[in-house]
Amino acid sequence: MSNEEVQSEAFSAESYFATQPPPASLEEDVARAREFIQKQISQGRKVVLVTSGGTTVPLELNVVRFLDNFSAGTRGATSAEYFLKAGYSVIFMHRQFSLQPFSRHYSHSTHPFLDFLDVDDSEEPAQIDVKAAEHTQLIEVLSQYKRVQKAGTLHTLTFVTVNDYLWLLRAVSQELVPLGRLAMFYLAAAVSDFFLPRQKMSEHKIQSGKGSLHIEMDQVPKILKPLVNEWTREGYIVSFKLETDETLLVPKARKALARYGHQVVIGNDLHRRKFEVVFVSPKGGRPVLDENGEAEPDPSQFAESWVHIDPATNPTREIEEDIVAELVRRHRVWTGES
Ligand code: PMT
Repeated sequence: MSNEEVQSEAFSAESYFATQPPPASLEEDVARAREFIQKQISQGRKVVLVTSGGTTVPLELNVVRFLDNFSAGTRGATSAEYFLKAGYSVIFMHRQFSLQPFSRHYSHSTHPFLDFLDVDDSEEPAQIDVKAAEHTQLIEVLSQYKRVQKAGTLHTLTFVTVNDYLWLLRAVSQELVPLGRLAMFYLAAAVSDFFLPRQKMSEHKIQSGKGSLHIEMDQVPKILKPLVNEWTREGYIVSFKLETDETLLVPKARKALARYGHQVVIGNDLHRRKFEVVFVSPKGGRPVLDENGEAEPDPSQFAESWVHIDPATNPTREIEEDIVAELVRRHRVWTGES
């Protein structure tokens, strides 16, 4: 369910941050991010903030139950690798335990670590080897990982709840201001639309046995608005739109661009997201919305381009390679390089 379809109390970003407490690790996380960003600035690098994975909404202060948003973190982790390959420095802000760049190739569910090792315990001490079939990929992934570690171009931040996410995004985007147009925001995280304000949360585990559970949630402020208008005025902002009805992708993307005034929305259908996405962007200046923002904006104000890959002819190709290549090209135009 999206915000547009539900009538309930809406927090503005301002009232959200005035009433919801910051996560305990915020100051330390921001200090580390600041140090990383300053180093990248001194080296003249472009920086992309990649958000990845789903946020949770806890139902209790001593949390036993929570609502979760769908996202394994594949889009974010894969894209982060291609941004690094393209010469960007990456702040990878991801849901704790979701997929991460490089280690994603050895996820416990799709390619478990123990399955690519062989052991010979016929002698003392026992010998461990990587299976021959795994050598090529492991060498490639490990070499890239070591190169990135040596260059110090990847910085990782974690969130769990939507509250962690919002506070971190605001703080890190403000730290990126000195980069101006050299900063890109790649918002692939699946962010909760509804939450329980701290003031309404039960302190202890909600007890069962009293029949059905009724919870009224408040709307999470749409964070793209202050991101574009206040936190970063020059950063290149890419948001994602996930739908299960493909026909809604382009109209919803246009509406988001008209409403928030950022640069690109990448639309993806839940079931086709690994093979097909659509880039929607304004053709000229900021698209115009009607007065109350409800009607569809005029389609002639927008450009669309589809990216497809064919897994049948090239099963190892990842669509994120094409997505990142296109964004790198567009970002160059944004920074005035071409
Ligand atoms: O990780 P994978 O399994 O590979 O899946 C990737 C993905 C499908 C989750 C990803 O490609 C994707 O589409 N992410 C965005 C999904 C989403 O939450 O869409 P939305 O309609 O709720 O939000 C649209 C945009 O608004 C998002 O860029 C989000 O950052 C932003 N938003 C959302 C909520 C909120 N309160 N404020 C926001 O600014």
